[in-house]
Amino acid sequence: MKKVGIVGWRGMVGSVLMQRMSEEKDFSLVEPVFFSTSNAGGDAPDVPGASGGKLQDANSVDALRKMDVILTCQGGDWTTEMFPQLRAAGWNGYWIDAASTLRMKDDSVIILDPVNLKVIRDALAQGKKDFIGGNCTVSLMMMGLNGLFREGLIEWITAMTYQAASGAGAQNMRELLAQMGAVHDSVRGLLADPASAILEIDGKVAQTMRSSAFPTRHFGVPLAGSLIPWIDKDLGNGTSREEWKGDAECNKILGLPAQGEGHIPIESLCVRVGAMRCHSQALTIKLRKDVPLADVEALIAEANDWVKLVPNDRESSVRGLSPAAVTGTMSVPVGRLRKLAMGPEYLSAFTVGDQLLWGAAEPLRRMLRILLD
Ligand code: HSE
Repeated sequence: MKKVGIVGWRGMVGSVLMQRMSEEKDFSLVEPVFFSTSNAGGDAPDVPGASGGKLQDANSVDALRKMDVILTCQGGDWTTEMFPQLRAAGWNGYWIDAASTLRMKDDSVIILDPVNLKVIRDALAQGKKDFIGGNCTVSLMMMGLNGLFREGLIEWITAMTYQAASGAGAQNMRELLAQMGAVHDSVRGLLADPASAILEIDGKVAQTMRSSAFPTRHFGVPLAGSLIPWIDKDLGNGTSREEWKGDAECNKILGLPAQGEGHIPIESLCVRVGAMRCHSQALTIKLRKDVPLADVEALIAEANDWVKLVPNDRESSVRGLSPAAVTGTMSVPVGRLRKLAMGPEYLSAFTVGDQLLWGAAEPLRRMLRILLD
């Protein structure tokens, strides 16, 4: 059995990964060894194969190099610190990582096997060892449009995103709820009075959101009752790093060139909204040719086991195509499909997905399964 070192299993993405690995009985197929950056020698979690074991030191190259596979959700700083040391020490195992640190390196493959299993298998055949989870927004968009990518039908895409608090971290999810609570608290009395004036309520809400006492330590600004039209670093050219990832990672996942012939341009405008853990995206797609809408729908619906076509009518859309409907599920619904007034090659779509599942943990555990095949 392969020795699999698991690092960062206590954090938010790591906890979702542990849940999914338990549900899919992955632990019984490997020899799991749990690592900790702060509690080496403590008790390992109780999963098949690790019960009664002790946590190993995640800062020890000697302990890590005994592993056949390292599966990490520990985060970019740990990857930056430990990965080069391990490789320098001659470690030749498989590295499966949720962090973005190594994603764009030539030796790395971005993993999303329902979309790019061939790229993954080719990389394995070439002896590549570094398999990195993609950006959540990119992975969810690609899961939804898998059928159109597969048929080579996409000329370009623009994505307007509506990204959940979880993408910024667990503390940000808590802060979103604290903000919601603070807003509600500020007008609780007025809300209880059916005769109160809505403009008075609205004025109090605005005052509360703008006050220095409003909880904004993590987001920096209000999110509840508002939105934040910038995600990740400012690249200094009018683009956020999150927006840059859309193009760079999508093309890399598909094994396409970074520019020029064969490259698919993807433009984004990424926005944080007050959803908990589902990212949504409104997409405009330019097809390479005029494909009948029914064929587009069939290609999308049949591409993988998780994509779900939502009929483009009001009732189906409001019920099936929202973070509230999708959160905590593996489903990636795609709807609002229609041809646009710009011409028969122009298509609109809206998709939603849980950014902790297909957006983060699931591609990692599935990569482990591919290594065990
Ligand atoms: N960068 C994403 C976000 C999450 O901030 O929503 C991780 O891919």
